[in-house]
Amino acid sequence: MHQTTDRLEEMRAEALKGGGEARIEAQHEKGKLTARERLQLLLDPGTFQEMGQLVTHRSTNFGLEKQKFLGDGVVTGYGKVNGRLVYVFSQDFTVLGGSLAEAHAQKICKVMDMALENGAPVIGLNDSGGARIQEGVVSLGGYADIFHRNVKASGVVPQLSLILGPCAGGAVYSPALTDFIFMTEGTSYMFVTGPNVVKTVTHEEVTSEELGGASTHASKSGVTHFKAANEAMVIEHAKRVLGFLPQNCEEDPATMAYEGGDENRPKLDTLVPESAQQPYDIRSALTEILDIDSFLEVQPDYAENMVVGFGRLGGRSLGVVANQPAFLAGVLDNDASVKAARFVRTCDAFNVPLLVLEDVPGFLPGTDQEWNGIITNGAKLLYAFSEATVPRITVITRKAYGGAYDVMNSRHIGADLVLAWPTAEIAVMGAKGAAEIVFRKEIASAKDPAKKLAEKEAEYAELFANPYNAASRGYVDEVIYPRETRAKLLVAFEMLQNKAVKIPRKKHSNIPL
Ligand code: HXC
Repeated sequence: MHQTTDRLEEMRAEALKGGGEARIEAQHEKGKLTARERLQLLLDPGTFQEMGQLVTHRSTNFGLEKQKFLGDGVVTGYGKVNGRLVYVFSQDFTVLGGSLAEAHAQKICKVMDMALENGAPVIGLNDSGGARIQEGVVSLGGYADIFHRNVKASGVVPQLSLILGPCAGGAVYSPALTDFIFMTEGTSYMFVTGPNVVKTVTHEEVTSEELGGASTHASKSGVTHFKAANEAMVIEHAKRVLGFLPQNCEEDPATMAYEGGDENRPKLDTLVPESAQQPYDIRSALTEILDIDSFLEVQPDYAENMVVGFGRLGGRSLGVVANQPAFLAGVLDNDASVKAARFVRTCDAFNVPLLVLEDVPGFLPGTDQEWNGIITNGAKLLYAFSEATVPRITVITRKAYGGAYDVMNSRHIGADLVLAWPTAEIAVMGAKGAAEIVFRKEIASAKDPAKKLAEKEAEYAELFANPYNAASRGYVDEVIYPRETRAKLLVAFEMLQNKAVKIPRKKHSNIPL
């Protein structure tokens, strides 16, 4: 009896050591935590239940039979985050560089299958040298097994990918298929081909950090949704994101307790500057409208002309999409359209209602935009809003011009409510541009063309540079004082909480990708 218990004790101790003391030390020296230390930070104390601790690989290629580690380089199981069930896998770089092959992949697939069957999120902590080279094609197969499950689980349960070390080759595609990516600064990177291959093929000299570090993906490519200075902060971000999402697509996000008070926000009355040309920071509006300190911006350093993120209103989870007049005048361009479209779809998939703040001068003109597909990319945003069935409310704070008026969750594409501030301007284009086109001949033949232009501009502005024309058509449900915004939204979202929309039967939609 004693002998058998001893054996279990020994095996458990061995599994907990991962790749051994020296490699754990090397991991710490790089500023990285071990797979198990990370899980301790992520999960509520005492809740982690490990599965497959004694799994080993079965390969005998290249002397691998002498390099067997219990767990095969990945710690998997389930536990709780703030009391909620989650499934987790955490790759152990101290074991064969966290490389993935048959057994390692099977362990990950097992928790993904269980997450799908039991309707709970999957959180992956990635730190791996990629496909285990010695095991050959079974490593590639293992990755593809995971990709397939990522797609199956997409839109059913939230999937979060934390990148805490290398993530290279096709391995990047599992995180890319999940809902949110989080990266650590300085210790993580993601790329399809590393600097050496890049140098051989394109003769570019680039470091791993420049090519695929956290800052690169947070600002240039938009691949990562969040970056943070260290692993503890990355894990905190992930927990916060999880708090805004439900367990699965059949559930609503949890509502936090909220005690009502004076919901007037007089600061909003002076937010929009006198001149329509002057910028202001839309985040200031969000600070006033949302519950205190509840806003969590997603992709804050990418396509800054569009602000997206999660917040709470009266304790309810909300997705926010807002034009940012403080950056490129809040214009809609390729990156901003794709960024917002993706976020809208994520919120819709997980029953997070949408609040849209609109101040947009239109789509950005130019060859760069056209040649890079602004038609298709703009259509993505149009499509995403149009198909979203969650409650959605638009507040027009200032400009709502041209096609952008239609696209930014207009009444016509299914917004439940459209509110406008008195400063709203809802028209095909700005008054000056409109006057120049419509009254071109009249202006040219006038004694004083400049005076005529000013006259016609004023005429157009009088008719359209306000919310009243749109309100008279019912395109705007209510013109409100800015200070009333929060109070109006609180009751409106409450009114919409049981919204149910029937979607025509189809295999799946065909968003213009
Ligand atoms: C087997 C691997 C490995 C791998 C690392 N190791 N990657 N073993 N297969 N893919 C081992 C190393 O041999 C080493 O073992 C230990 O892990 C630690 O690695 P180091 O190189 O000492 O660590 P470091 O200096 O931090 O460098 C990390 C690294 C480097 C940058 C990740 O190891 C590396 O470049 N690895 C190869 C990456 C790669 O090309 N992978 C395949 C990508 S293609 P010892 O015993 O010597 O200490 C791919 C396709 C996926 O992944 C396809 C999906 C569709």
